[in-house]
Amino acid sequence: MTIDKTSDQLKNSGFYIIKNFVDQSIVKKIKSKTIKILNDASHLMKAVNISKVLETQKKDKLSEVMIHKKKFFITKKEFSEGYKIYSKKTDSVEVKDPLILIPEFNELIFSEKIISVCRKFFKSSDMHLLYVAFRCHFKNNLPDVGLNFYHLDETYNKTIKSKAVLKFSIPFHLKLNEKSDKFEFNLITVNKKKIQIKYGKDILKKMHYTSLNEFIPAIRKKNFTPKVTSGDCIFFDPINFFHNAVKPKKLRIMLYVVVGRKSNYISKKTKKIKMLKNDYNNLSKVQKNFAKLIKKI
Ligand SMILES: [Fe+2]
Repeated sequence: MTIDKTSDQLKNSGFYIIKNFVDQSIVKKIKSKTIKILNDASHLMKAVNISKVLETQKKDKLSEVMIHKKKFFITKKEFSEGYKIYSKKTDSVEVKDPLILIPEFNELIFSEKIISVCRKFFKSSDMHLLYVAFRCHFKNNLPDVGLNFYHLDETYNKTIKSKAVLKFSIPFHLKLNEKSDKFEFNLITVNKKKIQIKYGKDILKKMHYTSLNEFIPAIRKKNFTPKVTSGDCIFFDPINFFHNAVKPKKLRIMLYVVVGRKSNYISKKTKKIKMLKNDYNNLSKVQKNFAKLIKKI
């Protein structure tokens, strides 16, 4: 694929897929490591106990609430009961220090293929890895929360100017060649700027954290589920294209990476991402530039 086609597709449809990016043996290895990690509380970050939140407040608008009110968390004791049990109480959990815990991620995230797509998107090599999250989403009976609703990765905080970021994610739970194993991610394949020109200034805020059936039919029609299967890597533009994740039908294992410029507000969090000095030293000059802002220990 030429330079123009990659950035054109990202610009026009909001996403781009590298097929068969991860070897199936690596997918399997990471999946089995993940199951062990999920049963070890010491590797898990705080997770909201949604069942508990539901007991104390109205069930109608959990989208905004869940993002801001992280008052109730799964306790250590609950984590120690294993993910089969605590997964009924929360939508997802994030794993601590993924680049150290799962060394296989380094080769994937710092691959020249990835860096090349990012370069084409930013039309510059002045961009870096800003955040890495390894998150598992659970199948349960809890209502939709947060990213289950369509949204833009925008803060709508007037003091923070949204700047370009590119996200990429890799699933580790999908079965290869299984048609029923649909990727749990949708996006509206129209740039927000076009939506705004056509429907006015307020439309974006109105669409933020809502469901597909609340959209204008013409916009709803542009909803698309990218054909991502096991081993694929999908890039998307989360600032300009509305997207959501649907609740999974089985354990959903996802690696998420955010790429952007140093001036982006997200770079304040980049120091929290740790990688081993040894792994960093083995990188090429181009890769080192990509990994520049993360913490080496
Ligand atoms: Fe998002």
